[in-house]
Amino acid sequence: MEIRKVGMVGLGTMGAGIAQLCIQSGFETVGREMTPEFAERGHAQISRFLARNVEKGRMTAEERDTALGRLTLTTELEDLAGCDIVIEAIVEQLGPKRDLFAALDGILDADAILATNTSALSVTEIAAATKRPGRVVGLHFFNPAPVLPLVEVVRGQLTDEAVAQQVYAFAKAIGKDPIVCHDTPGFVVNRVLIPVLNDAVRVLDEARVTPEDLDKGCRYGLGWPLGPCALIDLIGVDVQVHASEALYEGFREPRMAAPSRLVNMVNAGLLGRKSGEGFFRYDEQGNRVD
Ligand SMILES: NC(=O)c1ccc[n+]([C@@H]2O[C@H](COP(=O)([O-])OP(=O)(O)OC[C@H]3O[C@@H](n4cnc5c(N)ncnc54)[C@H](O)[C@@H]3O)[C@@H](O)[C@H]2O)c1
Repeated sequence: MEIRKVGMVGLGTMGAGIAQLCIQSGFETVGREMTPEFAERGHAQISRFLARNVEKGRMTAEERDTALGRLTLTTELEDLAGCDIVIEAIVEQLGPKRDLFAALDGILDADAILATNTSALSVTEIAAATKRPGRVVGLHFFNPAPVLPLVEVVRGQLTDEAVAQQVYAFAKAIGKDPIVCHDTPGFVVNRVLIPVLNDAVRVLDEARVTPEDLDKGCRYGLGWPLGPCALIDLIGVDVQVHASEALYEGFREPRMAAPSRLVNMVNAGLLGRKSGEGFFRYDEQGNRVD
């Protein structure tokens, strides 16, 4: 089976970016959202990103129009019938993802592949909602998907070897630089990153270092492009806490549990860049103001 037509469920932050990669790379893509308004919002995000590519000389206006011509929008799941792979980027909750995969299982051809962009849920548990767990795989992009080269191809407990290889080749075909791993909490990158960021937050209190100096230490001493406090602000303090909880549930290692300092910040509404304040303060455009 060759992948020619892609289905994208959810055209939010991640889904719009992934759909953009697919149409830019020559794949007919059907984008499904819950309402026409959400679909239009996703389309607008894609158009904006592609317009920027034209401005920067990365593509011509004609190439942009051809790419946009490959995208169709729908609110009906049934319109995904005939897709060779469907990628899911809906809300990060097991129930809705399992419901979606069970429904898609009944709509798609028997050899179609189902991929989930989940960050922290078990690919194996999502796959178990279908009668084709061998054809279910994790395809974990990083934000912003059109920009960051990495994709984790995550093999669930029952994922067929051939499917993992095909999805790896597909990730390359849409311009990514994939790595392959098995389905464990946090996969590879978040498994390493989340506890390290939690360690950094604990060091703030232990060493009584300021967020500015901790970030400076990691940037100049470790060569990090961004210090841990600025990075948590960028990721979202709530997202870091949520990811920590998922990892802690999986491994029960104390350093994976969210530091109380972060939990307190979430309770106070200090979520980082998106709320205007986290460890640092930001203006409306997300630029640091202190
Ligand atoms: N944002 C990130 O940095 C990031 C990075 C990697 C992976 N992810 C994962 O990607 C997925 C989507 O994240 P996002 O940031 O794009 O979210 P988002 O909220 O921006 O978009 C989710 C979209 O899914 C739709 N949706 C929500 N519930 C649905 C349902 N039950 N059925 C169908 N559609 C539904 C919404 O209309 C929305 O447009 C999540 O699983 C998340 O963990 C996010």
